[in-house]
Amino acid sequence: MTTVKTPRPVPDAASLRPETRLIHSGILRSQFGENAETLYLTQSFVYDTAEQSAARFKGEDDGFIYSRFSNPTVAMFEERIRAVEGAEACRATATGMAAVTASMLCFLKAGDHVVAAHALFGSCRYVIEELLPRYGIKTTLIEGTDLKAWENAVRPETKAFFLESPTNPTLEILDIAAISKIAKKAKALLIVDNVFATPMLQSPLALGADIVCYSATKHIDGQGRCLGGAILASEQFVKDHLHTFMRQTGPSMSPFNAWVLLKGIETLQIRVEKAQDNALKVADWLAGKPKLKKVIYPFRKDHPQYELAKKQMRGGSTLLSFEVEGERAGAFRFANALRLIRISNNLGDVKSLIVHPGTTTHQRFTPEARAEMGIGEGLLRLSVGLEHVDDLIEDLSRGLAAV
Ligand SMILES: Cc1ncc(COP(=O)(O)O)c(C=O)c1O
Repeated sequence: MTTVKTPRPVPDAASLRPETRLIHSGILRSQFGENAETLYLTQSFVYDTAEQSAARFKGEDDGFIYSRFSNPTVAMFEERIRAVEGAEACRATATGMAAVTASMLCFLKAGDHVVAAHALFGSCRYVIEELLPRYGIKTTLIEGTDLKAWENAVRPETKAFFLESPTNPTLEILDIAAISKIAKKAKALLIVDNVFATPMLQSPLALGADIVCYSATKHIDGQGRCLGGAILASEQFVKDHLHTFMRQTGPSMSPFNAWVLLKGIETLQIRVEKAQDNALKVADWLAGKPKLKKVIYPFRKDHPQYELAKKQMRGGSTLLSFEVEGERAGAFRFANALRLIRISNNLGDVKSLIVHPGTTTHQRFTPEARAEMGIGEGLLRLSVGLEHVDDLIEDLSRGLAAV
């Protein structure tokens, strides 16, 4: 049997450009020298001796123990995301929501206080508004675009700021650099859910954030297959808080999902580039159409935070939202008339997907809370995929005709 005993080392990620890191970072080649990443579908690992198992549990022997703690395929995924983001450390999670929840529960305790922007993905709002207070962690929701509101919400016991930018589904842009300064002054950690921007279009850590969360389910897979998430932070944060929390509570990513997601990451740059190009063209085409009240896209000049979006993002995202005349009935007629673009609450897929947030992702809120977040009854969110833009425009024409 031919085996490669000493695989040639991959260059250090720091010396590689982001596109190359997406493809080469973190590969752990086995003795067989395989090209594609290996799927280590195993629950546990075996030891040569009882002494070795003891040393490994003590952290004195570098190796794998059990896949709830770590696994070589998951480690490849973590190292690749870490290298692309330029973070010190990464931990993979089962879903994006596991990442968001673990990023806070791993270090917050009763008596602490969290400030968060009120415009959040529905499940993130549940964690902030309902879950954390159940364990004695107080939370304050504010208008995230108002820097004074962040300052005013700070209390002596404030330990974390949480935000997403662009927000889901209204694509508001929050000033990450300015908010991070307020967080630092308050000695609070700034956690950014960077799902809408992706690592390709926005680097929150470089803007001053302390922790970044991803739903890898979205653009990182990008092909609608596996759920996953990631938390990026300093080595110190992982050592002091996240490592033990993940190991003992078990929101870990499965090796199979890590293996699928690793293949997704390889094409992330090229997919996001094309999809955001399509999104801008679609937004420009929709803008000003008589049956639409407004079109929201961060890289259009009519976006309220256009200058800020241009400053902190490298592209306007692969999503856009628009408000249809005729309230909910108008929005439903639009969505039901589409033939190519499918109705789905997922996003970041190669297939374009449309959703009515008011009755799906944000349905559990009161109409007043939705209105506060800017989610009107006529609002539709479109996740733009890789189809030919003219086919998308033809399909959207069907929607418009039906309103
Ligand atoms: C902004 C945002 N954060 C987190 C999540 C949760 O991700 P997952 O579905 O992987 O748990 C989503 C899902 O849509 C999202 O849009």
